[in-house]
Amino acid sequence: KKVVLAYSGGLDTSIILKWLQTEYGAEVVTFTADLGQGEELGPAREKALKLGIRPENIFIDDLREEFVRDFVFPMFRANTVYEGQYLLGTSIARPLIAKRQIEIARQVGADAVCHGATGKGNDQVRFELGYYALEPDIRVIAPWREWDFKSREALLDFAEKHQIPIAKDKRGDAPFSVDANLLHSSSEGKVLEDPAVEAPEFVHQRTISPEDAPDAATVIEIGFERGDAVSIDGERLSPAALLTRLNQLGHDNGVGRLDLVENRFVGMKSRGVYETPGGAILLAAHRGIESITLDRGAMHLKDELAVKYAQLIYNGFWFAPEREMLQAAIDKSQERVEGVVRVKLYKGNVAVIGRESPQSLYDQELVTFEEGAVAYDHRDAEGFIKLNALRLRVLARRDRRG
Ligand code: ARG
Ligand code: SIN
Repeated sequence: KKVVLAYSGGLDTSIILKWLQTEYGAEVVTFTADLGQGEELGPAREKALKLGIRPENIFIDDLREEFVRDFVFPMFRANTVYEGQYLLGTSIARPLIAKRQIEIARQVGADAVCHGATGKGNDQVRFELGYYALEPDIRVIAPWREWDFKSREALLDFAEKHQIPIAKDKRGDAPFSVDANLLHSSSEGKVLEDPAVEAPEFVHQRTISPEDAPDAATVIEIGFERGDAVSIDGERLSPAALLTRLNQLGHDNGVGRLDLVENRFVGMKSRGVYETPGGAILLAAHRGIESITLDRGAMHLKDELAVKYAQLIYNGFWFAPEREMLQAAIDKSQERVEGVVRVKLYKGNVAVIGRESPQSLYDQELVTFEEGAVAYDHRDAEGFIKLNALRLRVLARRDRRG
């Protein structure tokens, strides 16, 4: 039995690794992805070796460019937010991890894949929908749903017995759960579980608080082509480099914090603290460039589709045909979304302060309050309003009759 494990190098997936070897009798292949979580990957290799994984069974991939180019940017073309606020930083990373895991499983001839998500959350759904969509007959091992450790203590005892190092703070009061990548950091559980209580400052890891941000604003220019950001202040950057730069700018200005109670796919509400510094800037700037380059009909339809599209990504249906159909429509809308947006960052805020584009639909001549425009005759407005008012007048007359 050969299993490809999504291995972070952390305590929980190290325990899973050992459990697969000892209780499952499996040969374990580890896959560790650099998605920009900001951790060294060297230690993951060391730990895997120490836990008895053969060198040829250790896969470590830098997926940052692919993540931003093929997952984050396509999602941002839609201005997607779940329940009006969540920028889907964890949700959008899962399909990529699932895809790479399946590729490795094929390469090494493994018949199973394994992840470390709990049996209560969204991530188990996202990983497994990804696996099954790409490899319909794959065997899935979800240890959190299968093993019979009755408590965190029992889990840690197992770790100790197998010489898995446990950081001091992990005994007793386990910390909150964190998921991070180039797009966001997410924190859930423990000190955050009571939604009435404000999240402590130490939970935040990639933004300073708006109160501590500088008194002077930062102004930047973001260039767009076909709906994707391609430059900052005139300098062309790769997708991952661009998002990294925006993250730094957002960090320095306390941008992109969110405290949210959301509805999980499995049915419960959960409270999370999110930090999406670069993503928050990107979303505002993208809406800014769309505001002058998209037709109203296209824009309003997009906004309706974006709600559905966000649900699909949140619920793990990245590889479903309806997600691809929506993507095709969204991508079509972006053909002429190009130009430059000026954005001001100031104490947690992102404000668009200017936008320009060779593809602009904004017509100053048409909109001006001064006399001038030839294409617009004020007298046309009277009939336009009267016909639109017709039904409202009929209704009002009926109401008056009582
Ligand atoms: N609630 C977020 C989502 O479903 C994040 C989940 C993972 N985060 C974590 N801290 N374990 O996308
Ligand atoms: C987990 O349960 O593993 C994290 C939270 C989630 O997936 O929603």
